[in-house]
Amino acid sequence: MSSEGGAPPSSAKRVGIRDVRARKNSAEKLIVLTAYDALFARLIDESGVDIVLVGDSAGTVLLGYDTTIPVTLDQMIHHASAARRGVKRALVTVDMPFLTYQVSAEQAVTNCGRVMQESGADSVKLEGGSAEVVRAVRAVTGVGIPVMGHLGYTPQSEHALGRSRVQARDDRDALALVEHAKRLEDAGVFSIVLELIPRTVARAVTQAVSVPTIGIGAGADCDGQVLVLHDMLGLNDRFTPKFLKRYATLADDVRSAVRRFGDDVRAGRYPDDDHSF
Ligand code: KIV
Repeated sequence: MSSEGGAPPSSAKRVGIRDVRARKNSAEKLIVLTAYDALFARLIDESGVDIVLVGDSAGTVLLGYDTTIPVTLDQMIHHASAARRGVKRALVTVDMPFLTYQVSAEQAVTNCGRVMQESGADSVKLEGGSAEVVRAVRAVTGVGIPVMGHLGYTPQSEHALGRSRVQARDDRDALALVEHAKRLEDAGVFSIVLELIPRTVARAVTQAVSVPTIGIGAGADCDGQVLVLHDMLGLNDRFTPKFLKRYATLADDVRSAVRRFGDDVRAGRYPDDDHSF
């Protein structure tokens, strides 16, 4: 049972793929947050998340790129290895970066295998529902690597998706999305992220597949919710989409702390005798 604020005791057993699958239609929603390093991964793991997602959002949130497209496999392995070292309980899922799984099934297996072997991750996430991606998912799950799907707004395809970020607004696109989700399920995914789609469409997908759906900007009817940690902490304070709820204002705290440190040093208040040997 919870020790404080919903967090499990540190001795709690590790979350596995079966545990995630068992949360389909459960009253207990899956809680998923991103982490790109050992420190934040440890903090969110200690706070009771079910899945730590090492997202390729690292590219935009941490590395200063405009999109996730420049992120490389080596960069993802670097971040995933660090996050893995911080996690004791949650399932660790790693985003496969652009063009590491779409070209051929063989490449997908080799690259996902590298992530698993070199970072110690528990699973990988592949974006999209095209024939190429479904083929990759089938090949990767076929060698025993658990795969999370990702439909709706898929940032690696942002140049192809058009101006509106919210996807599947009309009936034709909504039906196609449900179809893609069923194909991913058939190819073996253990869960599917649904990003930036109308709540009604997310509900239809959630009802159409037997694996848990994890929403971000997809309304309340998914089997779980994911947010980018730096966004929900208010650290990435230039990102202000409608769906985002901020649970802290850490960018303000950082700026204020840095200014106060500078003021103290300039005024000779720091270091004082209490902070000197
Ligand atoms: O890269 C990422 O952080 C993600 C989440 C937004 C789901 O894919």
